[in-house]
Amino acid sequence: DIPSLKDVLAPDFTVGAAVTPAEITGDHADLLAKHFGSVTPGNAMKWDATEPTEGAFKYTDADAIVDFAAAHGIGVRGHTLVWYQQTPAWVFQDASGTTMTATPENKALLLSRMENHIKAVMGHFKGKLYAWDVVNEAIDETQSDGLRHSMWYQIAGPDYIADAFRTAHEADPDAELCINDYNTTVAAKRQALYNLVSSLRQQGVPVDCVGHQMHGNIDWPSASDTAATIEQFAGLGVDQQITEMDVSVYTDNTSSYSTIPAAALTKQAAEYKALFDVYRSHRDDISSVTVWGLADDNTWLDSFPINRLDAPLFFDRQLQAKAAYWSVVGDG
Ligand code: XIL
Repeated sequence: DIPSLKDVLAPDFTVGAAVTPAEITGDHADLLAKHFGSVTPGNAMKWDATEPTEGAFKYTDADAIVDFAAAHGIGVRGHTLVWYQQTPAWVFQDASGTTMTATPENKALLLSRMENHIKAVMGHFKGKLYAWDVVNEAIDETQSDGLRHSMWYQIAGPDYIADAFRTAHEADPDAELCINDYNTTVAAKRQALYNLVSSLRQQGVPVDCVGHQMHGNIDWPSASDTAATIEQFAGLGVDQQITEMDVSVYTDNTSSYSTIPAAALTKQAAEYKALFDVYRSHRDDISSVTVWGLADDNTWLDSFPINRLDAPLFFDRQLQAKAAYWSVVGDG
């Protein structure tokens, strides 16, 4: 019987996994309950799942995951309230079904929809989730203001971010509120996110936490870039969470294996160990580390950025522990 990942890592931080509703039954549920102290619904709390049409809220899948977690003493991270993807088109359309442009009326309409959504969804789960990714992927370091010029930004301007956090704090004052993004170990992106969080906190906006997605691969990111990122945000006094870690066996967007080479899995174990060593040595700054999936039989990387066989997680397609798992747990 192998050690429980969450027990091994408990002195350092909570360890979590993203799940789909199918993974809270059968052998997957057993794996989840044994090894993980936190769960993130991979899609079930996104806008297209919870409010597909205006005012018609649906929580069936999310409730099932939250109820499973409660029954097994597992914490829940909410993901996500305001994002530019997996958001229905109606959110950005005016009464005539036309995509909104930046007028004062449209800005007011969009922000009121956003506020309603945050209040309804956070209200529904109030007291059951320990953290929320309030705003996801708002950074674009190639823009002069460092912000992604998404539909949110184009219609409402940068104000939507502060408004989202203030609304979220009202809706559930006890939930930890995170801003979440990818590639935060890249210097320019890290700096743009730092500037935003720093300015929001100076204005008294309730941003409690920075979420680092940490989608990576067997060669990237480096431990030193990862440490530099954690250390820079530690200077702001925010909590940090690793929210969506996985380690692809591919280092480009085009190649594909029909069988994963053993050497790739060995490198993967080394990458997991290197990054978990950084997380553990920064345990005072990091409250949770979540991997983006339970086992290799269900990973978003099988269809992103192209369809191909990937194997980015701790457990294989038969739900058996991989070298990546042993590299983190320690093998003696
Ligand atoms: C992914 C899900 O895992 C997929 O099932 C879905 O098709 C697309 O989204 N960054 C995020 C997550 O913040 O919400 C994404 O999840 C992965 C990238």
